[in-house]
Amino acid sequence: MGTNKGRTRKAFIVAILFIITFLAFGPAAFAEDLLQKAVIINEGCLRCHAAQGLNANFDGKTVSLYVDKAKYEVSMHGTMPCTYCHTNISDYPHTGALKGKELVAQVNGECRRCHKDIVADYNKSIHGQVNSAEGRQNAYCSDCHGIHNIYKKEVPEATINHNQVPHTCGNCHEEVFEQYDLDFHAKSVLLGGKEAASCVSCHGSHNILGPGEKESMVSPENTPKTCAKCHLFPLENMAKGKMHYSLEPTGDGAVSFWVLICFSWLVIGCITFVLVCILLELRRKWSDANKPDSH
Ligand code: HEC
Ligand code: HEC
Ligand code: HEC
Ligand code: HEC
Ligand code: HEC
Ligand code: HEC
Ligand code: HEC
Repeated sequence: MGTNKGRTRKAFIVAILFIITFLAFGPAAFAEDLLQKAVIINEGCLRCHAAQGLNANFDGKTVSLYVDKAKYEVSMHGTMPCTYCHTNISDYPHTGALKGKELVAQVNGECRRCHKDIVADYNKSIHGQVNSAEGRQNAYCSDCHGIHNIYKKEVPEATINHNQVPHTCGNCHEEVFEQYDLDFHAKSVLLGGKEAASCVSCHGSHNILGPGEKESMVSPENTPKTCAKCHLFPLENMAKGKMHYSLEPTGDGAVSFWVLICFSWLVIGCITFVLVCILLELRRKWSDANKPDSH
């Protein structure tokens, strides 16, 4: 009885030790293994794809098949085998490989497979909606994040970096970008400032909805709260004015437009007045100097 109990206890201790050892070294060994696998696979792919001139003709368009090895290796997925995103490619020739639109759609499906926590927000957002005419989501993950150059937002070159993101959104929202460019916030953000609002500070990232939707960060209900993240001044008024407008004589930008016009003319008027005074003074000096000496 006693020895049996002792044996059970020994077996139990051994099992515990085994589990502890596995927990301590298992993941490290696995990570090592993955890294090894990534190096082998990626070396293979990059033998061809690191060549700058590698192009193909898809859907009548010339597409570059070049992958910047240096950028890829320091990207968030740099230690991951290429085949984790390009799941239908394992060797060359690439039998059954997808091209153009189908390729982009397939790989963006892989992003969602791994980054599950983002999918619920993204699916509800305006960018997750499928545009039936185009047969694709309004904005794919890769439209905002890039492809083989995906970094954390803290990296200055990241497409989602605070100072880069207006350009990223502006690729598709050109008119709003031009309007944002006139804004106080843009004056700071586009020059590298960290405090003022980028598109994402006001709109969010994966949960973006149009201003007409109640849950949108820029709906009339939520705008004061959104501005209050950084501003203390009267909040009810913040939802009233238009945030994005063009400088035009009528419409939302009319006040700013006419203020700009008035100030421009005021400045031109002042400078002209001063110049005229200087010229009159010079003329007087000139004629004084040319008067016959009365002494
Ligand atoms: C021997 C050179 C070579 C190797 C190795 C190679 N590729 Fe390619 N790859 C090409 C060429 C050439 C094309 C152009 C289209 C074609 O011929 O299929 C291409 C096209 C592609 C495309 C774009 C469109 C398509 O056909 O799907 C992707 C993605 C791709 N390769 C990924 C990879 C990955 C991932 C690896 C490694 C597992 C790899 N390639 C290994 C030469 C190569
Ligand atoms: C994080 C996912 C991801 C990884 C990892 C990845 N790719 Fe891609 N790749 C993409 C996406 C997304 C596209 C589609 C880009 C587009 O055209 O919008 C793409 C497209 C391509 C293309 C087609 C040309 C192009 O730019 O459209 C080639 C070639 C390619 N990848 C090669 C590679 C190679 C080689 C590796 C490994 C060194 C790799 N990829 C790793 C996401 C990935
Ligand atoms: C095979 C799984 C896998 C696929 C497919 C994948 N990722 Fe990732 N991704 C990861 C892992 C793992 C990390 C690193 C997580 C970490 O260290 O925080 C990561 C990191 C990231 C990050 C940086 C996260 C941060 O903390 O700032 C972004 C952004 C990202 N991935 C976007 C994408 C996009 C876009 C795609 C598709 C083009 C994609 N991923 C495809 C696994 C994947
Ligand atoms: C409209 C542009 C946009 C789209 C589309 C988009 N993202 Fe993002 N994503 C961002 C921005 C901007 C950030 C940085 C958020 C911030 O600054 O707080 C981000 C951050 C991330 C991060 C880092 C962790 C986090 O939650 O902050 C991951 C991972 C990520 N995105 C993956 C994805 C995946 C996967 C998809 C597709 C399902 C996707 N993103 C679609 C703009 C986008
Ligand atoms: C300071 C906060 C703020 C910043 C920064 C901001 N927005 Fe907005 N945005 C708003 C508000 C509030 C609305 C609601 C309508 C309005 O007031 O003009 C809006 C509306 C929009 C709309 C829908 C209506 C329209 O005018 O077309 C789009 C698209 C948009 N913003 C994109 C962007 C992009 C892209 C950027 C960055 C280049 C950006 N926004 C920067 C606050 C902001
Ligand atoms: C690949 C292109 C693309 C990118 C990149 C993109 N968007 Fe969009 N966005 C769209 C499309 C398409 C729509 C839906 C059509 C529309 O209403 O303009 C949309 C809709 C919106 C709307 C709602 C507009 C409305 O009037 O209801 C806002 C707000 C918005 N985007 C902000 C952003 C912000 C902020 C970013 C960057 C973080 C961004 N978008 C990046 C394509 C894009
Ligand atoms: C991420 C923080 C942040 C958010 C969110 C934000 N702002 Fe700002 N805002 C700033 C900073 C910082 C400045 C000063 C920028 C400068 O002039 O360099 C500023 C300047 C301004 C100014 C110019 C007058 C002044 O006080 O300097 C106005 C007006 C303004 N913001 C309105 C808004 C409105 C309206 C919203 C919400 C729709 C908003 N802001 C959201 C950070 C923010």
